[in-house]
Amino acid sequence: MGDNRRDFLKKGALLGLAGIAKGLVGENKINQLESISANLEEKDKFTLLPLPYSYNALEPYIDAQTMEIHYSKHHQGYVNNLNKIVSTNIDYLSSDEIKCTHVDKFTSPAVRNNLGGHFNHTLFWTLLKPNPKGEANLPTGKIAEAIKKEFKSFDDFKKDFSEKAGKIFGSGWCWLVVQDGKLKIITTPNQDNPLMKVQQENEDLFAPQKKPILALDIWEHAYYLKHQNKRADYIANWWNIVNWEMVEKLFNSK
Ligand SMILES: [Fe+2]
Repeated sequence: MGDNRRDFLKKGALLGLAGIAKGLVGENKINQLESISANLEEKDKFTLLPLPYSYNALEPYIDAQTMEIHYSKHHQGYVNNLNKIVSTNIDYLSSDEIKCTHVDKFTSPAVRNNLGGHFNHTLFWTLLKPNPKGEANLPTGKIAEAIKKEFKSFDDFKKDFSEKAGKIFGSGWCWLVVQDGKLKIITTPNQDNPLMKVQQENEDLFAPQKKPILALDIWEHAYYLKHQNKRADYIANWWNIVNWEMVEKLFNSK
């Protein structure tokens, strides 16, 4: 791999987290998110950041029990697994970097699955916000303009995204990404994400890199307690708590 290609991948690996760090209000939060980027760089420990809201803050759209289990059991589990991998395979891992863009280098699926699980959930939490009064929740600014340009209208985008998320077979994620300056909706299986240089549906392995700016967790653990098998209801509820300010900040980030 040439130096330019390697540098490009390195830069891209932290793109999402760096974008999150820029977008958060409050120095403590920024420091926390910068530290997770540093942890990914140092590959010696991974940290579960505090949620930016309480477990019940997203009700009635996502219930408190689901949030508590999702965050403290599932996400914590990915973090614990990563730290275990690092502590027990240090020689194997010391020759490379544990980053989303590098998961194809690890023969063990555990790195890909747990790093994806950690990265995806870290991003997912920041892309949610409370909406206790049930106010209309629509994008504004440049992201709103870009959505209108690419998908004709917000309603068309919402319909397209919801349909793609609804059709994911089994567990996975639905994303809005920026690729070559254009918005695109993609899905990934399991804990894969758009930064990973792995085969993705209908995608050239070496297609221009995709920057994730919106993420929806389609694992049943994200909704089964409240919505049981009704994934469409979970998706419809989720639109009410999308943190469009964060999406806008990620969209505008380099
Ligand atoms: Fe999840």
